[in-house]
Amino acid sequence: MENKKFKRTLVTTALPYANGPVHIGHLAGVYVPADIYTRYLRSRGEDVIMIGGSDEHGVPITIKAQKEGVTPQDIVDRYHSLIKESMEGLGISFDVYSRTTSEMHRQTATEFFRTLYDKGEFIEKTTTQLYDEQADQWLADRYVTGTCPHCGNAGAYGDQCEKCGTSLNATDLIDPHSAITGNVPVLRETKHWYMPLDKWEPALREWILEGHKEWRANVYGQCKSWLDEHLQPRAVTRDLNWGIPVPIEGAEGKVLYVWFDAPIGYISNTKELLPDTWEQYWKSPDTRIINFIGKDNIVFHCLIFPAMLMAHGGYQLPENVPANEFLNLEGEKISTSRNWAVWLNEYLADFPGKQDVLRYVLTANAPETKDNDFTWDDFQARNNNELVAVLGNFVNRTLVLTNKYFGGETPSRGELLDVDRAALDELAGYGERIGSQIEGFHFREALKELMNLARLGNKYLADTEPWKVAKTDMSRVATIINISLQITAGLAAAMEPFLPFGADKLRAMLNIDKPAWDAVGRDDLLAVGHRVTDAPEILYSKVEDAEIEAQKARLERIKQENIVALWKPAPQAADVPFDDFAKLDLRVGTVTACQRVKKADKLLQLTIDDGLQGRTIVSGIARYYEPEELVGKQLCFIANLPPRTLRGIVSQGMILSAEDADGRLIVVGPTGSVRPGASVK
Ligand code: MF3
Ligand code: ZN
Repeated sequence: MENKKFKRTLVTTALPYANGPVHIGHLAGVYVPADIYTRYLRSRGEDVIMIGGSDEHGVPITIKAQKEGVTPQDIVDRYHSLIKESMEGLGISFDVYSRTTSEMHRQTATEFFRTLYDKGEFIEKTTTQLYDEQADQWLADRYVTGTCPHCGNAGAYGDQCEKCGTSLNATDLIDPHSAITGNVPVLRETKHWYMPLDKWEPALREWILEGHKEWRANVYGQCKSWLDEHLQPRAVTRDLNWGIPVPIEGAEGKVLYVWFDAPIGYISNTKELLPDTWEQYWKSPDTRIINFIGKDNIVFHCLIFPAMLMAHGGYQLPENVPANEFLNLEGEKISTSRNWAVWLNEYLADFPGKQDVLRYVLTANAPETKDNDFTWDDFQARNNNELVAVLGNFVNRTLVLTNKYFGGETPSRGELLDVDRAALDELAGYGERIGSQIEGFHFREALKELMNLARLGNKYLADTEPWKVAKTDMSRVATIINISLQITAGLAAAMEPFLPFGADKLRAMLNIDKPAWDAVGRDDLLAVGHRVTDAPEILYSKVEDAEIEAQKARLERIKQENIVALWKPAPQAADVPFDDFAKLDLRVGTVTACQRVKKADKLLQLTIDDGLQGRTIVSGIARYYEPEELVGKQLCFIANLPPRTLRGIVSQGMILSAEDADGRLIVVGPTGSVRPGASVK
C-alpha cells in the first residue's frame, strides 16, 4: 500500500438484508475482517471511515411480510435495529450504520438513476412477464413453479430447476403456477430499463484483468470467467411495490432493482456521515476504496456497480475487493430459512463478555481462500488452548509477578543477556509483520502472528524462569519483568484490531491509554516506576463443556425440526383421464452398466436391460449414487418419451426417483425381482 500514496481510505461492508438477524457467516465473511482492517488503519492514525447499513429492499422482504401479515416496513424496522445493535455488541466499529429506506438514500439513488437515464446510459426493453391476476401482482422468478422443460421435474422454480440444475426463466416453465395463490399466471407485457453491461466490458477487462492482477485469486478468477463469457444487458428496474420508485414518467408501479439501489447505499451512507466532505471519499483519486463482501456478491461489486459508476462518471472504482468464500456450520451450509446458523444476537446473549472469542474464532477460521467450517468443539478448543492458555496466561503471569516482586511498579532493566536481546529483537519485528499481513488482507496470518507474539512472551518467561532467579538475583528479575511488561503493552496495542475487548481490559490493567500501532514491538512502552493494577484479573476465561453441549443440542433440535417442518408433500395434481395415464409406457429395467458423464457432475449414463434391444438413459442422479452402486439394480423408467441428447449422448427415457429427507434423489424400483422390460401398471 505504500507504493500508491493514498491520503484516505473508504471501507465499505456489504449491506446485510434486513430480513433476518446477522449470523456467523456474515461476520466471518465481511464484518470482522473489515473491522480489523479499519481499526488497524485508525490505530496507525490514518484517515479511514467504515460504512455499513441495512439492505431493505428486494422481493424476499416482501414475501416475508406477506407471510407474517405485516408490512415490509415492519420487517425491515425489526431487523435493522436487531442487526445494528448486535453489530455494536460485537464491537464492529462502523462510522455510520444506516439503511436503504432512509430519505438520504432515496434521494441519492433517485438522482443516480436519473443521471444515467439523462445521459442515455440505459436501454429500454419490453418483454413479457408472468402476472398473478388474483393477487394483482407481478411474479418474480422465484415465485413461479412449474414443470422443467429440460427434465420434466414438476417442482421446478422460475429461476432454476433444482433437479437437473438448469437455470431457467419463469416463462420457460411448462404449466406454471403462482407460488402466492397457486393460480395459473398470465403473460403481460412490461417495459424495463437495462444497463448495457456489454458496453462496459472492454473497460472492465482493462481495469480488472490488466490493472488488478493483485486481487485475490478467487475474485480475479470469478471476474475473468464472467468477462470471458461476455456480459449481457441487465434489467435495473422491477415490477414491484416495494423499493425506490423509478423516477421517470410512465414507470408507475416500478421500482429500482434492489441490486441497483443497494450499492448506491454506500454513497448515501457516506453522505449521511459527512454531509460536507463525502465527495473526497468517493471522487478523489487519492482515496483508497475497499469493498468487503462475500463471494456471492463479487459480480455486483466488481462488474455491475463499477459499470454504474463509470456510466455516471466522476466516481473512483474500488482499489480492492477482498471477497471471502463461505463459512459452514458443523459441516453444513448456513441457511437462514432452515435456521441453520449461529445468530449474533443469540451468541451475545448466550456468551456475555465473550465477544473477542467469536471474533477470534471467526478470524482464525476465516474462509479467505476456501470455504471453511465453524464447529463448537473448535470454538471451545481455540478459546481454552489459545486465548486462555497462550495469550491470557502470559499476560496474567506478567502482572502477577510484577505485583509479587515489585509491588505493581515497572522495574528497571539491568545489563541484558543474550536471551533478553533475542526476545527484544524478535519483539521489534512484530508491528511490521502483523501490519503487512493486515494490509494484504491476510487476516488469519495476521492473527497467527499476534499469537506468536504472546508465545514469544511465554517462551521468554519459560527460558528465564524469574520465579527461580528471585531466590538469588532480584536485579535480574527486574530486567525480566521489565521486558515481559513491554511485551504485554505491545500486545495490548496489537490486540486492538482483532480483540478490542481484551485490548481495553488489558490497557486498563496496565494503566495506559490507547496506544498507536507503532507501539507494537517497542521496548519502552512502560516507563520505570509506572504502576500497573494491583488486582490482575484473568483476561480470558474458559468455555465449559456444558456451554458447548447446550449449543450442540440446539443445533441437533433444529436438525430434527427441519426434518419435520420442511416436509410438505406437493399438493395433489389435477385429475387426468385414465387414457392419458395409459399412454405412458412405464417399465422395469435392470442396470447392466453405469458411468459418470464427462464434464457433467450431475449426470450418470445408465445402460439398461429392458428385455428389448437395451437402451441408454442419462439421469441427473450423479450426486446421489456412485455408478457401481446401481449396477445390477432394477428400476422403473418411462420408456416412450422422445429421445433427448444430453452432452452428446442420446437418452432414451427417464428414470423415476423420489426425494429423501435430505433432498437426495432415490431411484424407484420393484420391491421384488421382476423380468427386465416388465410393464408397470
Ligand atoms: N444484501 C446483499 C446480500 O446480503 C448485499 C448487498 S451489498 C450492496 O447479499 F452493495 F449492495 F450493498
Ligand atoms: Zn430440470
